[in-house]
Amino acid sequence: MAKFYITTPIYYANDLPHIGHDYTTVAADVLARWYRMTGREVFFLTGTDEHGAKIVQAAEKAGKKPKEFVDGISAEFKNDLKLLDITNDSFIRTTDPVHEKVVSEFFAKLHADGKIYKKKYEGLYCVHCEKFLSPGDLNEDLCCPDHKVKPVTQSEENWFFKLSEYQDRLVKLLSDENDPGHLAVYPLERRNEIIGKLKTGLQDISISRASLKWGIPMPFDREQVFYVWVDALLNYISAIGIFGDRKKFDELWPADLHLTAKDILWFHAVIWPAMLLAYGLRPPKKLFSHGYFTINGDKMSKTLGNVIRAKELVGRFGVDATRYLLLLQVPFGSDGDVSFQAMTERYNTDLANNLGNLVSRTLTMMEKYLGGIVPEGAGGTAFGMEEELSPVPGMFDRLEFNRIAEQIQKAIDKANRNIESSAPWKMAKQNDPALAGLFYGLLRSIGTISIHLAPFMPGVSQKIWESIGQAGNVTAAASDYFAGKAVSYPVKGNKISKPAILFPRIQDK
Ligand code: MSP
Repeated sequence: MAKFYITTPIYYANDLPHIGHDYTTVAADVLARWYRMTGREVFFLTGTDEHGAKIVQAAEKAGKKPKEFVDGISAEFKNDLKLLDITNDSFIRTTDPVHEKVVSEFFAKLHADGKIYKKKYEGLYCVHCEKFLSPGDLNEDLCCPDHKVKPVTQSEENWFFKLSEYQDRLVKLLSDENDPGHLAVYPLERRNEIIGKLKTGLQDISISRASLKWGIPMPFDREQVFYVWVDALLNYISAIGIFGDRKKFDELWPADLHLTAKDILWFHAVIWPAMLLAYGLRPPKKLFSHGYFTINGDKMSKTLGNVIRAKELVGRFGVDATRYLLLLQVPFGSDGDVSFQAMTERYNTDLANNLGNLVSRTLTMMEKYLGGIVPEGAGGTAFGMEEELSPVPGMFDRLEFNRIAEQIQKAIDKANRNIESSAPWKMAKQNDPALAGLFYGLLRSIGTISIHLAPFMPGVSQKIWESIGQAGNVTAAASDYFAGKAVSYPVKGNKISKPAILFPRIQDK
């Protein structure tokens, strides 16, 4: 089976990353872990986008040279990846020589094939978006609607890509599932918006900047550098060696899944596939665009002082809970407000009260009533837990992270209710012979829950798995479980080991 190739947008290195940026990466990591666990070979790519006018401005402000500046930010982004336990297989920087070479060669071919041309252009340029805006894009104050600043009139002789030639082809490949180059875009409402906009007409786009030095020089026009966005999009093929090891490239391209946020969907669903078609490559197979995090309704911004960074969350909740909480604040695809308070509430209910309590009281009672040794049990499925969790694989395929969490919480709840209704403390007093079967079932439930949680909470799931007396890796057990093989847990006679409190309750001040 071909490898599953999954990407995140490469992080723009003009400032420190915040949790909005980390969100896409955590989502990609959960999926990468899920696909690996279910038997796919995965190639998961992320990286940093390091050219353009905004980088020059930020570097100047920091009193650094652009390269020195992006080296620092790229390292900070890599720190976030480590902090969040991200398992990317590769990391691309657009200042890597191999990437710069690909950008040059890719466009040298489009130049030779007549797919790009030079013309004088005057337009309204927003330096924050790094793009020309049409008058219709401006808000009532005649400002960029995203950045609330007036665009500057810029006139340049630039190179243009004949994007307009691909209008019909793009509409077809986005809408027709049977098209051999079909690009599936989710959520469907966003796909429909893109198709609607495409049908109103498509303009050729400028792909170079004459007034900028910090970019990749055009091989056929030394006065110009490539526009940062076309440079950045090519990371998805430069990182897998389009002009290097062709075998590796053919194994991975077309990408199975590009994750993006909604603000950059147009670049990924329109400009990127058109560039690939112009070169003679197949567009990616699937794009999923998620929503935006806001804080009390506002965009996260340094000016508003409301930026939340991964380090703060990990300091407060630990890495596993942070990954879980980040993904579950809003349905993937929708916008939503995030806050420390909402995350703390969710941490306390889902993790400290529900999951933590299930593990802790089951193991405490096991020690008290059964000497901490896994008893003989009824075997098979316990408390219908496996049926309860059976929708989870489909939910992973549809990227319904919040529904997976709900399903898992329901399963945990069910096990907790079973404890309440069976009242093992009474059973123990009465020497009820059914006590062993009850604990066998509870341990089996806890094991099944940890298998399903492993992509979100790799560390905690492993701890839980070991606590019920299992040797080996929970992900290995999960692979067998999802392949439909019998997995033996809990194992009669094994000793359980109660871990330290998994999720200490947090008091919100
Ligand atoms: N460099 C480009 C991507 C190039 S891909 C060829 C870029 N970088 S970014 O750093 O600005 O954003 C990285 C990702 O984080 C994007 O998907 C972006 O939309 C996402 N987010 C940035 N702020 C966000 C929120 N507040 N909420 C959710 N996602 C957010 O775009």
